[in-house]
Amino acid sequence: MEPLLKVVDLYKIYSNDQVKTPALRGVNFEFFSDRFYAVIGKSGSGKSTLLHLLGGMDVPTKGQVFYRSKEIGKMKDAQLSKLKRQKFGFVFQAYNLLPELCVLENIMLPADLDKRKVKKEYVEEILNTLGIQDKIRKYPSQLSGGEQQRTAIARALINQPEVIFADEPTGNLDWESGKDVIDLFVKLQKQFHQTIILVTHDMDIARCADTVIHIQDGMIVQD
Ligand SMILES: Nc1ncnc2c1ncn2[C@@H]1O[C@H](COP(=O)(O)OP(=O)(O)OP(=O)(O)O)[C@@H](O)[C@H]1O
Ligand SMILES: [Mg+2]
Repeated sequence: MEPLLKVVDLYKIYSNDQVKTPALRGVNFEFFSDRFYAVIGKSGSGKSTLLHLLGGMDVPTKGQVFYRSKEIGKMKDAQLSKLKRQKFGFVFQAYNLLPELCVLENIMLPADLDKRKVKKEYVEEILNTLGIQDKIRKYPSQLSGGEQQRTAIARALINQPEVIFADEPTGNLDWESGKDVIDLFVKLQKQFHQTIILVTHDMDIARCADTVIHIQDGMIVQD
């Protein structure tokens, strides 16, 4: 079976002034469709960096990232933007909600950009599960951190992306809301055969995954 995403000998070295920080040091891994991956490891071990490179948000210093055997680094800008918009969903710690759009407009944005229709029942299911159905006319500045986070999660799910990249998506939520979000992820992942790649510090969440990837000092280690 062809992997959905593959990284080969991946290195990321951040250079600021004279300081070089190796964040990833030779990572090889294959991600298959229809699976839930949890990425765990200490703070600073390279988890977010790996997610950024996989999602085409940043470029490696060395090595390659492949999406269905196409090298992301060789794609044209327009091709990469389209891939990110149509096949990937991102839930990062900085929610990047647009302040001038209300909650519903923010959530619908990825679909609207491609003039894609989304079933009303699907939108309602997401809103209800995330508990933001009565917030849809509010603006991001009028929301709590957890509500902004849940709005960003809804936006990432709206296009039923092939891959969901989530970096500590429940970090700002209480345990119970966090659990609801993970349950929603798992349910949608099974229903739509999505791939989830989720960074977490929470071992209870990691246990929900099919595969746990443990990163240490920029390398994948076997447990
Ligand atoms: N833009 C940057 N410039 C320079 N160094 C960076 C940059 N981003 C990350 N780093 C460094 O790269 C290393 C890996 O960072 P990364 O953000 O991937 O860690 P992480 O595993 O996600 O940590 P956390 O659990 O705290 O989010 C760290 O040493 C970090 O300081
Ligand atoms: Mg991080």
